[in-house]
Amino acid sequence: MISNVKSVLVQRKSKSLVFSSLVVFVMFIAVRLHIKCSNIQATGTLSTGALKNHGAHPSTSKYNSSDQNGRKVKPIDCKDLRHGLVGELKMAKHNATNHTLHTEPAPEALPTYTTDKRGRWFPLSCQPKQKTVIVIPFRDRYEHLKIFIEHFVPILQRQLLDYIIVVVEQDFTQNFNRGFLFNVGYKEALLLTKDNPAPLCMIQHDVDLLLENDRMIYECSKNPTHFSVSLDKFKYRLLYSSSFGGVTAVLGEQFERSNGYSNVFFFWGGEDDDFRNRLHVTGYRTIQYKNASIARYSMLKHQSAEVIKARLDALIFGNKIYHCDGLNSLDYTVKSRTFEKHYVLIKINVPSVLKTSSICRNCISKHLKTNDTYLPKVCR
Ligand SMILES: *[C@@H]1O[C@H](CO)[C@@H](O)[C@H](O)[C@H]1NC(C)=O
Ligand SMILES: *[C@@H]1O[C@H](CO)[C@@H](O)[C@H](O)[C@H]1NC(C)=O
Ligand SMILES: *[C@@H]1O[C@H](CO)[C@@H](O)[C@H](O)[C@H]1NC(C)=O
Ligand SMILES: *[C@@H]1O[C@H](CO)[C@@H](O)[C@H](O)[C@H]1NC(C)=O
Ligand SMILES: *[C@@H]1O[C@H](CO)[C@@H](O)[C@H](O)[C@H]1NC(C)=O
Repeated sequence: MISNVKSVLVQRKSKSLVFSSLVVFVMFIAVRLHIKCSNIQATGTLSTGALKNHGAHPSTSKYNSSDQNGRKVKPIDCKDLRHGLVGELKMAKHNATNHTLHTEPAPEALPTYTTDKRGRWFPLSCQPKQKTVIVIPFRDRYEHLKIFIEHFVPILQRQLLDYIIVVVEQDFTQNFNRGFLFNVGYKEALLLTKDNPAPLCMIQHDVDLLLENDRMIYECSKNPTHFSVSLDKFKYRLLYSSSFGGVTAVLGEQFERSNGYSNVFFFWGGEDDDFRNRLHVTGYRTIQYKNASIARYSMLKHQSAEVIKARLDALIFGNKIYHCDGLNSLDYTVKSRTFEKHYVLIKINVPSVLKTSSICRNCISKHLKTNDTYLPKVCR
């Protein structure tokens, strides 16, 4: 039975491979053209006036880059000041759902740190090269979020990053949609950090993964990178060589050009592989974090009630709709934006009937036949 299923899968896969390589080329052109021409827009707009009221917003001019005589002074590279890193963190490995996984007191935050009171933290002692935006797709796991924040805030500060943590919470009208929430998080992060001209580094982060070594710096390199290479749950082995879920880091420009995630993965799994395909189609080479000995994570325990569904089907239709399903067809409304001490919580509504949404109408239904088995259920 199992081997039957397997061989069917293999057959479907190889058929789809031939087809996808054709489609990939066409899409490559289409995506480029489309991204050039289209105005990417979301309905969850945010007035800048509303934001400004949340406290003074320091810009990069805050950094002292000229001396008494007005001569330019090279800003200090944060890399040279990371003396506070401790390396491997001692973690409590079991039953860790109700307390922080540190078994030692968390090292204190640097006194040279400050915040704009809108979730952004940045060091005063040096100038970070990127703005790090950690986006967490979220629903109903406050216990994990609390642990996450307690665990990561001291790490991010020891790493001397200019960072903001954006938690995007989906309502209950639909199944959980991780990719959709990343798209929202990206849009929201652009608004939240628009006064900071540094390149945006987006870290896509599951809430239940805790870094075990603070020498793994939360910055982007020139390739989109899979961070969570070694998980305790999988005995610190990479599950498959192309895996691109859990924790990943991509530059804002890369996210934008690949049109973000697909919006129609309303189930668990698949959106990560699809996203990796999108990056490849757009011309980026994704990599695994180069040093697996520090890219180690502990996974918080939870009941895994959600099951993998339709992973394969989604991968087959994915290539056909990159150009219109993603950031440029994102459709959501913001219920609230709350500025917590260490993160920004964005609660959103996802349309409960998607059939009539722009995602289905202008993209999916247009490009996939209505009797296509692979037409996502939400659009049928
Ligand atoms: C920047 O440099 C000037 C001249 O050295 C100094 O007066 C000023 O206090 C410095 N500002 C900050 C924020 O360090
Ligand atoms: C974890 O919890 C189980 C039952 O809830 C208990 O038997 C076990 O001793 C706990 N382990 C640790 C390390 O606390
Ligand atoms: C978590 O721990 C606190 C005390 O440390 C306890 O009051 C609370 O009931 C615990 N919550 C859960 C869900 O175990
Ligand atoms: C990986 O990181 C560890 C800890 O920082 C370091 O000792 C080691 O040299 C690194 N390995 C490589 C290949 O960079
Ligand atoms: C799908 O629908 C088209 C017309 O819309 C029809 O020509 C085609 O035969 C149908 N395919 C299947 C497999 O039903």
